[in-house]
Amino acid sequence: MELRVKEDQERGLELARGIDLAGVERLKEEAERALGEARSLQDLEEVRVRYLGKKGAITLALRSLASLPKEERPRLGGALNELREGFEQRLFSRKAELEAVERQKAEALEMIDISLPGRRPQVGGRHPVMEVYAHLKEIFGHMGFEVVEGPEVELDYYNFEALNIPRYHPARDIQDTFYVSEEVVLRTHTSPVQVRTMERRRPPVRIIVPGRVYRSDASDASHSPMFHQLEGLAVDRGISLANLKGTLGTFARELFGPKTLVRFRPSYFPFTEPSAEMDVSCVICGGKGCRVCKNTGWIEILGSGMVHPKVLENVGYDPGEVSGFAFGMGIDRIAMLKYGIEDIRLLFEGDMRFLRQF
Ligand code: PHE
Repeated sequence: MELRVKEDQERGLELARGIDLAGVERLKEEAERALGEARSLQDLEEVRVRYLGKKGAITLALRSLASLPKEERPRLGGALNELREGFEQRLFSRKAELEAVERQKAEALEMIDISLPGRRPQVGGRHPVMEVYAHLKEIFGHMGFEVVEGPEVELDYYNFEALNIPRYHPARDIQDTFYVSEEVVLRTHTSPVQVRTMERRRPPVRIIVPGRVYRSDASDASHSPMFHQLEGLAVDRGISLANLKGTLGTFARELFGPKTLVRFRPSYFPFTEPSAEMDVSCVICGGKGCRVCKNTGWIEILGSGMVHPKVLENVGYDPGEVSGFAFGMGIDRIAMLKYGIEDIRLLFEGDMRFLRQF
């Protein structure tokens, strides 16, 4: 590069001293060659400066005309101007060519193919558990139940004590409950929100409570340390077991279809009396017997009962005046039945191959 600059300067001096027609011809050939050899826009710019710049060969040659005898000026001047114009034009079209080449190179590099169809952005979907929850909320919403939520980190008092589960009750077994401290637990069910709500409101109360609950079971296909429940509570004057059965039967037919049968089996929960578990006719085989219902034709779907008088007393209600029913179900379990999912852990692993199916 340095060498060339020096050469150019020397030639410039020579040109400045005067040029003849043969010189113009030589200059033209040389300039043409330089243009032809330019491989990039940068090369081309260098060529332009070398010939047309302030100290460029053509510029200097034109300037040298002044030192020529008057009669030689028109001929040489004409030839030189022609050279300059021709060179400018060639320079211009070469520039367009090289620009096209460089654009192609850049496009190849970025692999821009404007004819390719666009990439479809991935759109999220509703998680199957949320899908089922939305349905439950709608069904109970139509029956006048309002959604209420409560804390997942809960006081022992609300999770157990107020629900008539005393200190040494087996349901409090350290095996099932995650203790945060002596008085604080991760709630093992959504029932504490029954108590929290009744403490704040006077009857009538009609609520559903969705939420996460925690139990320290070993996890397997049907157990997860975290799962979802939907709690229900109705308290008013004159609420009876008939209201419980009517409400939950209606709910089952809304959720699983009008042909669904329900049955209630006596059960036990410390916070309801009497207590019952509700089964629905198997959603898979319709009651004929299959693997899912273990050939019984029935599937257990929820726990329920009439709110225990002790619980009503604990929140300052008068059990002689008002009564109520409560129920609790596993949302995940219903999602598994509805979608034929055989392992609860699939619901919480966040595997897109699984989730994309819903
Ligand atoms: N809390 C109970 C459970 O987790 C379910 C239940 C709720 C039962 C309300 C009766 C009434 O198993």
